[in-house]
Amino acid sequence: MVTVSAPGKLMLFGEHAVVYDRPCLVTAVGQRMRVTVELLDMPEFLLDAEDVKVIGYKKQMSEVGIGEIPKGAKFVEIALKNFLEKHPMKTGIHVTTSEFSSFFGFGSSSASTVCTMKAISELTGIKLSNKELFDLSYKTILDIQGKGSGFDVATAVYGGTLYFVTGGKVIEPLNISELPLIVGYSGVKADTVTLIGEVKKKLEEEPEKVNRIFDAIKDLVEKAKADIVKGDWETVGKWMNFDQEYLRDLGISTEKLEAMISAAKKAGAYGAKLSGAGGGDCMIALVPNDKRKAVGDAITIAGGQVIDVSVNTEGIRVEK
Ligand code: MEV
Repeated sequence: MVTVSAPGKLMLFGEHAVVYDRPCLVTAVGQRMRVTVELLDMPEFLLDAEDVKVIGYKKQMSEVGIGEIPKGAKFVEIALKNFLEKHPMKTGIHVTTSEFSSFFGFGSSSASTVCTMKAISELTGIKLSNKELFDLSYKTILDIQGKGSGFDVATAVYGGTLYFVTGGKVIEPLNISELPLIVGYSGVKADTVTLIGEVKKKLEEEPEKVNRIFDAIKDLVEKAKADIVKGDWETVGKWMNFDQEYLRDLGISTEKLEAMISAAKKAGAYGAKLSGAGGGDCMIALVPNDKRKAVGDAITIAGGQVIDVSVNTEGIRVEK
């Protein structure tokens, strides 16, 4: 039996633009997905994923990836299918996933995909490099969603804080020891695939304008990368505010997110922006140490929920 865990993610800069061949910056969060895998004598696939209300799901190994798959089982089952296509196995497998709420948009689908792939490779002795683990897991996400840059998959694998270019063309860890963020949940669950679709529509309608926005966001990502490494939080905050303006222009911010962002800034944050697909989920604020409480209180008064989560955390690891 093997248990592995992988972190969730928070996008710092570059969301949406990263779907279109631009870079982004992302950090791993302390909330971790855990997946336990054991081999079975019978050629059966069993899944227990309480977090997504899938209990006692069972099918023949020969049927993995075939027929109707319940939503909550998709990422684990297609990860297994993609692994088996490369490395066939004769035994059965029991997968148990736990401990990660899909609630805040921290990327539970990609974390469970990466964990499943890693756990099976550990258990079968078929070692995968981090890049192979990324590639197979990213393929799994694309097979299911058809969309996505893969930044969440890279974060689950590598952890830390990454500079990432679409599809893993570049995955570069940033050498930093702190990242003074506050995270606020807007109370609304966002649907990433729908929001990617909305931005795609906008891009088709106004290609010049939207490409100009994506290029401007790319510029901010490059600047923020250099200033994050320097620890110049005041300047990084300024880039965050600019990025938020572009995201607003893309039409993916919400009144609630705007209220939380402006409350955070008024209370003394260096900068604030939405994080991820938009339409809900979370906002982030970069804050001086002596303003943490004031900024947290301001986000709460604006109707947000401050989430106590560590950032820049470790990537995938084998637990036992
Ligand atoms: C979603 O958290 C971030 C997006 O850029 C999608 C992606 O990069 O896969 C909107």
